[in-house]
Amino acid sequence: MRISIIGCGYLGAVYAASMASIGHDVLGLDVDQTKIDELGRGIAPFHEPGFGKVLADALDSGRLRFSTDYADAADYEAHVICVGTPQQIDSAGADLTYVHAAVDSLIPHLSDHHVVLGRSTVPVGTASSLLERLRAAGVRSPLAWNPEFLREGFAVKDTLHPDRIVYGLPEDPAEAQRAREVLDEIYAPMLEVETPLVVGNYATAELVKVSANSFLATKISFINAVAEVCEATGADVSVIAEAIGLDDRIGPKFLRAGIGFGGGCLPKDIRAFMARAGELGVTEALGFLREVDHVNNRRRDHVVNMTRKALGGSFTGKRIAVLGAAFKPDSDDTRQSPA
Ligand SMILES: NC(=O)c1ccc[n+]([C@@H]2O[C@H](COP(=O)([O-])OP(=O)(O)OC[C@H]3O[C@@H](n4cnc5c(N)ncnc54)[C@H](O)[C@@H]3O)[C@@H](O)[C@H]2O)c1
Repeated sequence: MRISIIGCGYLGAVYAASMASIGHDVLGLDVDQTKIDELGRGIAPFHEPGFGKVLADALDSGRLRFSTDYADAADYEAHVICVGTPQQIDSAGADLTYVHAAVDSLIPHLSDHHVVLGRSTVPVGTASSLLERLRAAGVRSPLAWNPEFLREGFAVKDTLHPDRIVYGLPEDPAEAQRAREVLDEIYAPMLEVETPLVVGNYATAELVKVSANSFLATKISFINAVAEVCEATGADVSVIAEAIGLDDRIGPKFLRAGIGFGGGCLPKDIRAFMARAGELGVTEALGFLREVDHVNNRRRDHVVNMTRKALGGSFTGKRIAVLGAAFKPDSDDTRQSPA
């Protein structure tokens, strides 16, 4: 399959190199000339274990190239939108400016046999509105949503060996069939080894992604809330986490109390989910996520207060080393990092 990947950040660059590594012909497109030049020379613009090797091998194979020119996408059959969807500066909602710009830049180069796939994390309803945008421009290409679940630090492994693959297919049966054929061909090696495949409509696929991230954020804030009670009682939160994690309905992962979650996904995704619920008239359904966010922010304040106390009540004149600036190990991503 000939695939163009639009947006070559943490998600798109890893996806582009990984898709080339499984035999597809891939074009990585981005508006950032410096990033494209580096990627084309085999230089990873960010730290991600294993990415340098998969990038170098893909470039050597001749199946991967990079460009800033959307006209180059015309020769490719599937177009995968991987651009950023950060939090808006003045509200909790997701900023879809980059998604809209990517689709608008792609439109003049689309033909009817092309398929557009969305992989960015977007508020529910985005895919339907993008389909309208395509149709309003006279483009008849099918659109499907195929959310990404990779974890930074494990991005290559997660892209090549995902826990599950999700397709959000269009309502029109012929378009759904065409989109599914393209998706099945892209993911053939993963489907051959029986990676679970979940198929739904646009809204379901969009909601799978934000629901998964909201659940993970809730689990982290839950144990951090328990930690607050432990600190008031002398109980040991790590022993509690171990004990409750042994219940296989709960499981041990994401139960490490600490400074809270950060990064380019969980904080903005729970806020965007709440904002979208508000627009849909179901604010109360996700009211608990507000508390998840509050607990998380309190952890940061708590560490600052603990440090101040340890330094005798004031930071004035003290030199403090922060060990680890990213939001997690094996990543250089400092977006929303608690550090
Ligand atoms: N980083 C992760 O761990 C991760 C995991 C799952 C899902 N996601 C989702 O994937 C999406 C991308 O995240 P990311 O971390 O890769 O973001 P990023 O900021 O690292 O990368 C986004 C890229 O898109 C490019 N871009 C912006 N506008 C463009 C345009 N009009 N045309 C072409 N390129 C354009 C930017 O230059 C940048 O290189 C987000 O929706 C995010 O929520 C990210």
